[in-house]
Order: sequence, then structure tokens, then C-alpha cells
Amino acid sequence: MIKIIQGDITTLAVDAIVNAANQVMLGGGGVDGAIHDAAGPELYKACLKVPEVRPGVRCPTGEARITPGFKLSAKYVIHTVGPVYRDGQHGEPEKLAACYRNSLALAAENGCKSIAIPCISTGIYGYPIEDAAKIAVREVKGFLAAKNANDAKGEGRAPSRPQMEVIFCCFSERDAAVYEQLLSCGDPVV
Ligand code: APR
Repeated sequence: MIKIIQGDITTLAVDAIVNAANQVMLGGGGVDGAIHDAAGPELYKACLKVPEVRPGVRCPTGEARITPGFKLSAKYVIHTVGPVYRDGQHGEPEKLAACYRNSLALAAENGCKSIAIPCISTGIYGYPIEDAAKIAVREVKGFLAAKNANDAKGEGRAPSRPQMEVIFCCFSERDAAVYEQLLSCGDPVV
């Protein structure tokens, strides 16, 4: 199930919230800063324990890492690193799509029934919201459809377990309106 909320992701009582982090994964501005502030210093310590895959990089662009949520209402924080937008011709769409796929997969692997995701890369990283939202909606719809089918196969009938709830948490009214438009008229998202 997909929902749209306009507000502060750190206040949401869901199983996991997604953080739009950077590759160092030790905090920053924007939603990253808000999540670290709300989770408390334990989050920084947990991020510090995430192994570097190469000097200064704990989470490569497009990948995702999970930590506890500490003081947050959310049980987990899933840190993902979106692409810095240049012109959309340098692999940015593919990397952004991977952020959503990998965050959702990590949430499912950890038994999350609800996950809230901010508008990854559309702030400091400059991704145009209209383009980013199309990718986000396409990837979430695809993930839920595949997961639902898989759950049904496993149970041999319509899944009795509730489907994962995915919440697009938009900080601004404008961003929420972009998502509403996409989800309401079922745009053939590219
Ligand atoms: N709740 C929900 N959404 C938020 C919040 C919040 N508390 N604060 C900011 N946002 C929104 C922004 O308005 C934007 O729509 O999150 C979206 C992502 O913006 P950024 O946080 O700037 O993230 P991003 O564009 O992916 O850039 C990542 O910024 O904060 C640093 O460490 C981070 O270097 C990384 C870079």
C-alpha cells in the first residue's frame, strides 16, 4: 500500500525511515541532520561501526545500510545515498532507482511492515522533484507488486499477511502535490 504524507519524517511511528545520507554516512544537513538530531548520538556511533567499503565510503551511491533508530519512533533507519544530479545523463536515474529498490529490500529483509521514504536527492543533491518522484513511484510500485506476488505464491492464495505500507514523506506541500498527481491519475511512470 502506498501513502503520501507531508511532514517531518523523524516524527513518524513506522518500522523504518529512510535517510538521504552521504557516502561517509556520519550525518549532514537536510533530512540526514534531522534524523541524526532526533535519533541522538547513538546513531552516529552505530554509523561509525558500519564498515568502510573504501576510505571514507560506508555506503556507496545507490546502496543502503540499516541501523537501529535509537530515540526515534522508528525501529530502524535505512541509510541510502542518492546521486548528485548533473543533467540526468550520467547514470543519475539508475542510481536513484537503486536507492529505492535497495532500501525496500533491506526493509523487507528486516521484517518491516511500514517504511517512510523522503524525496531522496531532491534537496542538496539537486534532483528535479518531478523526475525523481516518477522514479520513486515506479520503483515502489514494482517492488510491492513483486513482493505481493511472491507472498501469494508462498501462501498458494491471496496473501493473508498485510502488504508492506510505503509512505512517501514529503517535507513541502509542493513535493506532496507532485506525488499526489502521479499516484492519483496513474501516470504511466517512465
Ligand atoms: N523530513 C522529511 N523530509 C525532509 C526533512 C524532514 N525532517 N528535512 C528535509 N527533508 C527533505 C528535503 O526537503 C528534500 O525534499 O528531504 C529531501 C532530501 O533533501 P536532502 O536532505 O537535502 O537530501 P539530498 O538531496 O539527498 O542530499 C543529501 O544532503 O543532508 C545532506 O548528508 C546529506 O550529503 C547528503 C546530502
